[in-house]
Amino acid sequence: MQTVRIEIQQQGGPEVMQLLTAELPPPGAGEVLLKHLAIGLNFIDTYHRSGLYPVSLPSGLGLEACGVIEALGHGVHDLKVGDRVAYAGGAVGAYSTYRIVAADKLVLVPDGVADEVAAATLLRGMTAQYLLKRTFPVQAGQTIVFHAAAGGVGQIACQWAQALGVRVIGTVGSAAKAKMAAAWCDHVLDYNDATWPQQVRDLTEGLGVPVVYDGVGAATFEGSLDCLALRGMLVSFGNASGAVPSFNPGILAQKGSLFLTRPTLGHYTANRGELVETAQDYFTALAQHRIVPEIGQRYPLADVQQAHRDLESRNTTGSTVLIP
Ligand SMILES: NC(=O)c1ccc[n+]([C@@H]2O[C@H](COP(=O)([O-])OP(=O)(O)OC[C@H]3O[C@@H](n4cnc5c(N)ncnc54)[C@H](OP(=O)(O)O)[C@@H]3O)[C@@H](O)[C@H]2O)c1
Repeated sequence: MQTVRIEIQQQGGPEVMQLLTAELPPPGAGEVLLKHLAIGLNFIDTYHRSGLYPVSLPSGLGLEACGVIEALGHGVHDLKVGDRVAYAGGAVGAYSTYRIVAADKLVLVPDGVADEVAAATLLRGMTAQYLLKRTFPVQAGQTIVFHAAAGGVGQIACQWAQALGVRVIGTVGSAAKAKMAAAWCDHVLDYNDATWPQQVRDLTEGLGVPVVYDGVGAATFEGSLDCLALRGMLVSFGNASGAVPSFNPGILAQKGSLFLTRPTLGHYTANRGELVETAQDYFTALAQHRIVPEIGQRYPLADVQQAHRDLESRNTTGSTVLIP
């Protein structure tokens, strides 16, 4: 069986991603052969490509896809040929037409969820799930700040938070994105305006918010600390603008006995039970129309370089799918 896949020989700009054809072995014990129907593009893919996160070279890229099972390895009993499944996380290599995947990383995709939605949003949906329900479990009536509210995770998480009865202050980087995010945020602030932390205080009677979810990183770190209430929590879950620089923990005391956590999806879906529960909770929220994720961009797999350029230059909204 042949697959067409993206490979990098070295880390660097989008140009290091090259399309090649490779031979796949039959699936081994506990594995399945998957024909990809759609592939998700996530910001973390740019970190694996650029060198911000390490990979062992040469390497594939991509963590997320939806596909149909074409063959089963030994010992796989709870899935069958023809099942439509998705995965989000694990080893890199989703940018491919066919792939061998560990069966215990797969979840069945319910009938009502389209291939593109499963492929482009399972990782983000599960991220929103653990952030809002397990890292800092939000409660109805609370006000939160969610950065990059027009982005992939942002759109899903803000819709979900509102459905949970939370008042959402979303931040964005342009007027066009502000208009868009107003559909799922109670208030939208532009974080290019340096007064945004004060604007958060103005919206919360001077108190600040109990939690800030920050996937932007370096550019928003200080402001995020500045708009937290006493004993509030900064959930720093990404680095879209670059990694947060080193800092003295004493700053957390000075700014109100704050908490800081730096979570990742892998640690919140560390075993099969957690993975299935997290995915099912997301699929249920989709089925109840509490979340309607937008697939803002579609690219053929061969155009992945352009897809990365657009994501890194802030030219995407919602989630992005690659078509194999
Ligand atoms: N820890 C986890 O478990 C986990 C899981 C999934 C994702 N993440 C993180 O969550 C964040 C969002 O991921 P996503 O895939 O949904 O991406 P995304 O939000 O669709 O895209 C990133 C957004 O970040 C904003 N941004 C601010 N400064 C930026 C800069 N200098 N360069 C590029 N973008 C900048 C842009 O929105 P504006 O134009 O509005 O500023 C951009 O559209 C990423 O940091 C990602 O690594 C973490």
